[in-house]
Amino acid sequence: MKVCVVGGGYVGVTTAVCFAEMGNEVKIIDIDKEKIDKIKKGEAPIYEEGLQEMMERNMERIEATTEYEIDEDIIFICVGTPSKSDGSIELKYVEAAAKRIGETMKDGSIVVVKSTVFPGTTQQVVKPIIESYGKNFGIAMNPEFLREGKAIHDFMNPDRIVIGVEDEETANILKKLYEPIKAPVLITTPTEAEMIKYASNAFLATKISFANEIGNLCKILGIDVYKVMKGVSMDHRISPHFLNAGVGFGGSCFPKDLRALLAGSRQLGYEMELIDAVLSVNERQPLRIINILEKYMDVKGKTIAVLGLAFKANTDDVRESRSIPVIRELIRKGAIVKAYDPMAMENMKKIFPDIIYCRSVKEALKEADACLILTDWEEFSEPDFSVMKRKIVIEGRRVLKNKEGITYEGVCW
Ligand code: UGA
Repeated sequence: MKVCVVGGGYVGVTTAVCFAEMGNEVKIIDIDKEKIDKIKKGEAPIYEEGLQEMMERNMERIEATTEYEIDEDIIFICVGTPSKSDGSIELKYVEAAAKRIGETMKDGSIVVVKSTVFPGTTQQVVKPIIESYGKNFGIAMNPEFLREGKAIHDFMNPDRIVIGVEDEETANILKKLYEPIKAPVLITTPTEAEMIKYASNAFLATKISFANEIGNLCKILGIDVYKVMKGVSMDHRISPHFLNAGVGFGGSCFPKDLRALLAGSRQLGYEMELIDAVLSVNERQPLRIINILEKYMDVKGKTIAVLGLAFKANTDDVRESRSIPVIRELIRKGAIVKAYDPMAMENMKKIFPDIIYCRSVKEALKEADACLILTDWEEFSEPDFSVMKRKIVIEGRRVLKNKEGITYEGVCW
């Protein structure tokens, strides 16, 4: 099939390259010339495990352009939907893409929204824009469930494929496109598909905040939330995933999507109290690590090693990383911050240009009064704490294998 992907971010590029791998002809459209030039040269514009190799072997089926000239049968909208100041999503990129698609696509194509959008957007915003150009087309909403860092794997091995459509013909064409992927297909309306995406992320985020609430109480009781959650998760109705307590969830999806759900629901007159609570727990969680640290010292003038800046391991992404509020608070309280992350330091320099960035775990720990571990990088599992001035280590993510010879606390265990 001939597929057009509008938007060359991590969802767009992953989608495009995976469809090419499945034997389709794919065109990527993005207004960012730098990104398109990279793709044209066969260079992946983002880091994703396996992406570069998959791209290289499919370059003959991948075209990249900044021009909207669409003769493909299926067009995916994969542009960003950032937050507005009230938490609701900014639709200007989706709207602009829909306009250009409406102008330039051929009659009879299918337009698929993959961007995460508030329920109702595909039918109430995207469809009318394209309709205004007088074309015949099928409309669909097909959410993605990719994790950053594992996007290629998740695309090729999904738990499910959700296709939200208004008519059977559109459903059948999209089913055919996804045929090479062995996964159950759920056909819904576009609005249900949009809600499945939000509800999935909201549920996963709720599991994390739930584990953190239980963990905070476990800490007071002096018991281990990881052992508690192990026992809880042995119930097959619960599952062991996403119950890791710590400094909370970050990234470009959970915080944004939950805020969008809350704001969108509020606009419709319904207050989602549970989602509000999930976000509040997540806001408070990173600051708990500072409270624990203050049991040991007044941080003013002290050197604090911060290990981990990325919002999770195996990515250079610092968006909504829990290390941001922690570092901000340390600076506010007058501490000297020495930070290290194997991949995310360049990105964090844009947010905190004035803290000390170190080239290794050892350099960060040298002469430090305390160490905070904020990302679960494998590299942080067995640091040499002997170089510290005081061996006080507080973990925001459970990663340490050896706690011997240190004063240790977990943020909520
Ligand atoms: C998340 C979802 O997992 C994907 O299914 C979804 O497609 C994606 O958002 C999206 O909407 O695009 P991602 O943000 O890449 O993926 O990262 P996750 O691996 O889900 O982690 C999110 C945050 O939760 C991280 O900060 C992580 O450290 C934290 N987390 C995760 C916990 O604190 N505890 C856990 O048990 C699991």
